[in-house]
Amino acid sequence: MEINRKALIDFVKNEAENCNVFVIGDVMLDKYFYGEVTRISPEAPVPVTRVTRTKETLGGAANVAHNLALMKANTLISGFIGRDYHGESLSAQFSSRGIDTRGLIATDAPTTTKLRVIGGHQQMLRLDFEDALPADDKATNALIKFVKKEIKNHPPRSAIILSDYGKGICTEKTCTEIIEAAKKYKVPLIVDPKGNDWSKYSGADFITPNLKELNEVQKTPAKNNDSEVERAARYAMRKFHIGGMVATRSECGLTLVRSREVINIPTKAQEVFDVSGAGDTVIAIFALAIAGGIAPSSAAYLANLAASVVVARLGTYAISNEELSEALKKEMKNIKRA
Ligand SMILES: Nc1ncnc2c1ncn2[C@@H]1O[C@H](COP(=O)(O)OP(=O)(O)OP(=O)(O)O)[C@@H](O)[C@H]1O
Ligand SMILES: [Mg+2]
Repeated sequence: MEINRKALIDFVKNEAENCNVFVIGDVMLDKYFYGEVTRISPEAPVPVTRVTRTKETLGGAANVAHNLALMKANTLISGFIGRDYHGESLSAQFSSRGIDTRGLIATDAPTTTKLRVIGGHQQMLRLDFEDALPADDKATNALIKFVKKEIKNHPPRSAIILSDYGKGICTEKTCTEIIEAAKKYKVPLIVDPKGNDWSKYSGADFITPNLKELNEVQKTPAKNNDSEVERAARYAMRKFHIGGMVATRSECGLTLVRSREVINIPTKAQEVFDVSGAGDTVIAIFALAIAGGIAPSSAAYLANLAASVVVARLGTYAISNEELSEALKKEMKNIKRA
């Protein structure tokens, strides 16, 4: 595979900021309470964590948008939030990163939030605030209306991401309507799937499952090798009418499959600390490059390289365009040396 790394550096440095990515999905707030545990509660036999520091970060589809914002892309987010403190906090987090929040629709359900209490180095407790049910009709209709209008008026160099975390946004109706609009106005649409029925994603240009997700829609599960992953990807593409597949394969990197193309890209990661969020980085960078008119093979290469940076960091980490340019430069040096 011929990858023009110089052109990719130029893209990341100078053109990413002119690309427009519209992320529609299950947005979440990741919340952390850090502290120390020195005693057991007199009220019940539970440890008491004295909180010394708190942190809130963007999770789920919100983390996809975060990656795009750090790449300096024009990023629009659409999803459901609750009328609660976490919803306000999530909106503020988006705004402070320059992410367009006009597409956030308030519902009666709580804002999906994962709250961890960490005492010393030990996770003591996790509290989930979520409903994970399809939103009410009013909210769903408002979302579809907003999304369709934005797709109709999309600027040049656009792409759409559907980031399904199974928390209620990606119903059959919502997915079908969004994909139809994307097709009508010729905006590439890329899905991060959830669950075992992908018929709602029918007509998408690309899907980015990990191997476990890909295997959920197979009759015979694929092993993590090139030929079985290709076979499984082609089966899903045919069955659900999907244009192409970016199958992420953890320590084996990823595989791009299109009707007449298959490319296996090994991982570049040297040190792996925390793989959480790597899938979000893959879809963000892939969609960004597709929006910018980069060939899918080069877009997949770039996404895989970005993931290698993210897995070397602790926690859910989003990559910036400076870091991605650095990684590309390093790759060029390594190739010259080899
Ligand atoms: N252990 C690893 N070693 C090296 N690279 C990795 C490893 N795990 C993940 N990656 C990189 O991250 C990409 C996405 O990883 P993976 O297939 O685990 O997706 P995922 O399960 O959707 O991730 P997430 O945890 O964000 O949901 C891979 O294609 C690869 O580039
Ligand atoms: Mg994933």
